[in-house]
Amino acid sequence: MHSFTELSKIFEEKFNTRHFPTHTASLYDPAQYILQLGGKRIRPVCVLMGNELFDEINPDAHEVAIAIELFHNFSLIHDDIMDKAPLRRGMETVHTKYGESTALLAGDVMLVQSYEYLNKIKRDYSQKIIHLFNQTAKAVCEGQQLDMDFETRTSVSLEEYVNMITLKTSVLLASSLKMGAILGGAGLGNQQHLYEFGKNLGIAFQVQDDYLDAFGDPGKFGKQVGGDIISNKKTFLMIYAMDIASDIQKKELAALMFNAAVNKDEKVNKVLSIYRDCKVDEWAQQLKEKYLQTALQHLEDTAVLTARKKPLTELAEYLVQRES
Ligand code: IPE
Ligand code: IPE
Ligand code: MG
Ligand code: MG
Ligand code: MG
Repeated sequence: MHSFTELSKIFEEKFNTRHFPTHTASLYDPAQYILQLGGKRIRPVCVLMGNELFDEINPDAHEVAIAIELFHNFSLIHDDIMDKAPLRRGMETVHTKYGESTALLAGDVMLVQSYEYLNKIKRDYSQKIIHLFNQTAKAVCEGQQLDMDFETRTSVSLEEYVNMITLKTSVLLASSLKMGAILGGAGLGNQQHLYEFGKNLGIAFQVQDDYLDAFGDPGKFGKQVGGDIISNKKTFLMIYAMDIASDIQKKELAALMFNAAVNKDEKVNKVLSIYRDCKVDEWAQQLKEKYLQTALQHLEDTAVLTARKKPLTELAEYLVQRES
């Protein structure tokens, strides 16, 4: 049994190598660039934790962990193009540094490379894992499309938001844990509880991400603070504010969202001030707590010794409090 820190070290040792040839450098260097920027490595660690909840680490879990982290980084490269994001992990995004066309291809080749790692695992479970991987990848695409569709809408319900973040973010966390469980020999019931743990935790994780996008410390967050406000994302912050703000503030929010002439800094500051008036931080706590508790209930219902669950409990608490 290992802690999050120990597992990230174990993962990093395997992952910290070139995953691409040196030629064609103009394609592979940008791909390698984002991988070397680090990141929290939550999803690959989830694979290993899901495995270790049931048994010693299966060597194939390392291949799956690498595939998952490559997939995640692919999704980030494309997400940053879609979100017009200048910063990632405290550095320039791939498309800012190398151009959009190269970033698209670097993402594509990274996705293909993730399948090379999946292709190494034993036949006993490869079908099941690749199917889950593919279902997850399609869900991420759906979530990303909804996220963009919502940009041009004035109102989105909390239910629609939760569905969107489940698709774009939570299913990958959930599947990472489930793949680990499969590799650890878990039964179907336990696989499902772990999936539900990851899904609910993933929702709380994205709620925290959306909170940090508005109120994070720019030095720690590593991404452009206010980016979601600039691109009219329908985060729970905007949804709550549009629900409970005064009529004047609601009109102001709508005007800020759809008046192209407004200066970006002014837009961010004005929206933040309405968010503060609406006490959105209290809503954030409540929302995270709700999904965290549901997640922990599923972990409790997983039929293994409680002592084995400690790393996952700690992971859950860290993810909803994180500052980066
Ligand atoms: C960023 O994920 C994308 C989201 C789903 C919010 P992480 O916050 O896990 O990013 P890294 O990998 O640690 O940089
Ligand atoms: C991204 O959500 C989810 C995926 C990358 C699939 P965000 O757009 O909120 O992620 P960040 O904030 O850019 O990391
Ligand atoms: Mg983004
Ligand atoms: Mg996005
Ligand atoms: Mg975000």
